[in-house]
Amino acid sequence: MVTHYSDATPHIGSPRMTVIGTGYLGATHAICMAVLGFEVLGLDVDPAKVEALASGRVPFFEPGLPEKLREALDSGRLRFTTSFDEAAAFGDVHFICVGTPQQPGSHAADLRYVDSAFTELATRITRKVLLVGKSTVPIGTAARLTELVHSVSPIGDELELAWNPEFLREGFAVEDTLHPDRLVFGVSSEWAEAQLRRAFGPILDEGTPLVVADTATAELVKVAANSFLATKISYINAMAEVCEATGADVNLLASALSFDDRIGGRFLKPGLGFGGGCLPKDIRAFRARAEELGVGAAVAFLGEVDAINIRRRTRTVDLARELAGGSLAGVRIAALGAAFKPNSDDVRDAPALDVARMLYLEGAMVTVYDPEANVNAHRVYPDLDFADSLDEAVTDADVVMLLTEWDEFRQADPVELGELVSARRIVDGRHALDATRYREAGWEYRALGRPSVAATMALPQHARDAVA
Ligand code: UGA
Repeated sequence: MVTHYSDATPHIGSPRMTVIGTGYLGATHAICMAVLGFEVLGLDVDPAKVEALASGRVPFFEPGLPEKLREALDSGRLRFTTSFDEAAAFGDVHFICVGTPQQPGSHAADLRYVDSAFTELATRITRKVLLVGKSTVPIGTAARLTELVHSVSPIGDELELAWNPEFLREGFAVEDTLHPDRLVFGVSSEWAEAQLRRAFGPILDEGTPLVVADTATAELVKVAANSFLATKISYINAMAEVCEATGADVNLLASALSFDDRIGGRFLKPGLGFGGGCLPKDIRAFRARAEELGVGAAVAFLGEVDAINIRRRTRTVDLARELAGGSLAGVRIAALGAAFKPNSDDVRDAPALDVARMLYLEGAMVTVYDPEANVNAHRVYPDLDFADSLDEAVTDADVVMLLTEWDEFRQADPVELGELVSARRIVDGRHALDATRYREAGWEYRALGRPSVAATMALPQHARDAVA
């Protein structure tokens, strides 16, 4: 069933919401809540972000979000501000969505923005409202913040705090926010639960599963979920390493495993591994917090998950070196993709960009092309060359590297590409291309965990078809 919210009008007595922090999570949450019919005030300390959003411009790439922003602004229910005074006076439910990056020189999460947002609000709050954390935080943060806000707020212990973790994926942010697969409310009272039930009324009315828990469990759900996903990806990539040592094919392996419902095929895609602003930092912060809590041994395996993931990047560089004949010095490489995944312009801890940088440091002449992330990638690594199109990137390349599986790259014609390059050699870092088509077009095709052509040709025909 498709639900149309565009005509939504605020229900009598609907909570007025503020959303503190208008980055990826906050901007999406603020926009979607307004689309659902609530009065929303978004706050950011960065006037440029506020100005962009207020004038209808989403300051990052997210399919479908600009249209929703326009809809929300046109409805008159969404505004933006830099003023905590205004936010504190306006909101009945305040969602705190600021970032929790990795601390410099440590694996722990940097909570300075979270602490500051809660403090700024709490010191200005003079009536009973609910503060709701959505940021990904170490377990125990909500309990610590509860004490903090009680000590600084004019209403003291009356001020309540809840935790509502967010599970949205970049590239699917609107869908995941309007139609999440579950909601988790971490609360300390029935009153807080009732406020959240009203705030998420339209989503709960769709039959979305809800788990009501204490705040520690709610905090843990988020890091446990991301750790599980990271573990699943590293598991199949570890199997890819075993495949390489044995001549087995990890794609066939993943396919065979996926038919077991208990395992399933999602997040079992081998390749260059995970990156982005969430999975890598979350598993590290989880380990750091578990150590503090005296249960480091319970999640020590996440160190291996991280190590397997990082090895994907060096092994991908190894493949390029092998294809180039043993040295990367002076080799012209087309690096296709820079974003940490397709349909995103996010280059935080992006495996693609990391590989491009490592190739460059070994003396390769690297030209990067990403349909959306060139600007962000150039900001991070200005030494790399950037092309404006796929054709420009691959022209005269000695080796082509597929590093982010954008549709544009998956759909490219290997015959046409082959006419542009100086040598038909390709590393498929994301297992996203049709190996047979590339090989038939004269390409030397390599992918981690898959046998090279010599090994493949030794297989019977039906197995060769399956490998492709
Ligand atoms: C992730 C989670 O999936 C969200 O549920 C969560 O809300 C979010 O982090 C967060 O903490 O905010 P996201 O970082 O947008 O979402 O990206 P994913 O779709 O999870 O992909 C993460 C990385 O894993 C990407 O680099 C992707 O290329 C890689 N990946 C994914 C694989 O290498 N193999 C797979 O099979 C799947």
